[in-house]
Amino acid sequence: MDPRDEAPDRDRLPTLLGERVALRWLEARDVDGLFTLFGDPKVTEYWSWPAYTARDQAARLLESIHAHFREGSLYQWGVVLRGEDRVIGTCTLASIDRTHLRAEVGFALASARWGRGLMGEALAVLIDHAFGPLGLRRLEADVDPRNHRSLALLERHGFRREGYLRERWRVGGEVQDSALLGLLARERPRPSDGRRTTPTSTP
Ligand SMILES: CC(C)(COP(=O)(O)OP(=O)(O)OC[C@H]1O[C@@H](n2cnc3c(N)ncnc32)[C@H](O)[C@@H]1OP(=O)(O)O)[C@@H](O)C(=O)NCCC(=O)NCCS
Repeated sequence: MDPRDEAPDRDRLPTLLGERVALRWLEARDVDGLFTLFGDPKVTEYWSWPAYTARDQAARLLESIHAHFREGSLYQWGVVLRGEDRVIGTCTLASIDRTHLRAEVGFALASARWGRGLMGEALAVLIDHAFGPLGLRRLEADVDPRNHRSLALLERHGFRREGYLRERWRVGGEVQDSALLGLLARERPRPSDGRRTTPTSTP
């Protein structure tokens, strides 16, 4: 099965709606937002690359997001507050595997917005989409074990710690370990009330 067959429009990702956030297709107009996001060392402290220092890096990221979407290996949505246009984060399904029906989740939110449950909402919407219309059966996350915010977020959504890989990354000269977490569709906690579980596409 090709998860893209389920998308209403194969040329771009569908917009997914939470109560306060929307996950939408990233456009050329979002380069500044991506630069602000990934240029913040607080956001990239445990990321797989150091903070951006030039806007061009964000432009190349967007090109790469679109190229990998066309290949079908990566779906990366921009996170916006509903009713606003500016991208304040991204939410990702990477290494999408259509044979084994699994993918890796990733997320980043502007540091000024942390601590309000916004990424929790976005992640819930992403998981619903992955296990619903996309038909995936397993989601994985690779997290720096010191990244307690991220680990807490994933565990709140039912991810279990499944493994520990030593010295897996080398970022900005620093070697980092990985905690590996997994969530199976069949063990997903029931969606909480007050949150849409049906992805909504917009023109
Ligand atoms: C990890 C990250 C996405 C978390 O974003 P977030 O929006 O703060 O996360 P949550 O949705 O889980 O928010 C939870 C916090 O908001 C609080 N909160 C406030 N209102 C809330 C609400 N309505 N619902 C849920 N939580 C709420 C919670 O109590 C919790 O606070 P705590 O962390 O002190 O316990 C963010 O810290 C980030 O972008 N980090 C850098 C990038 C990164 O490391 N990504 C992961 C790589 S694997």
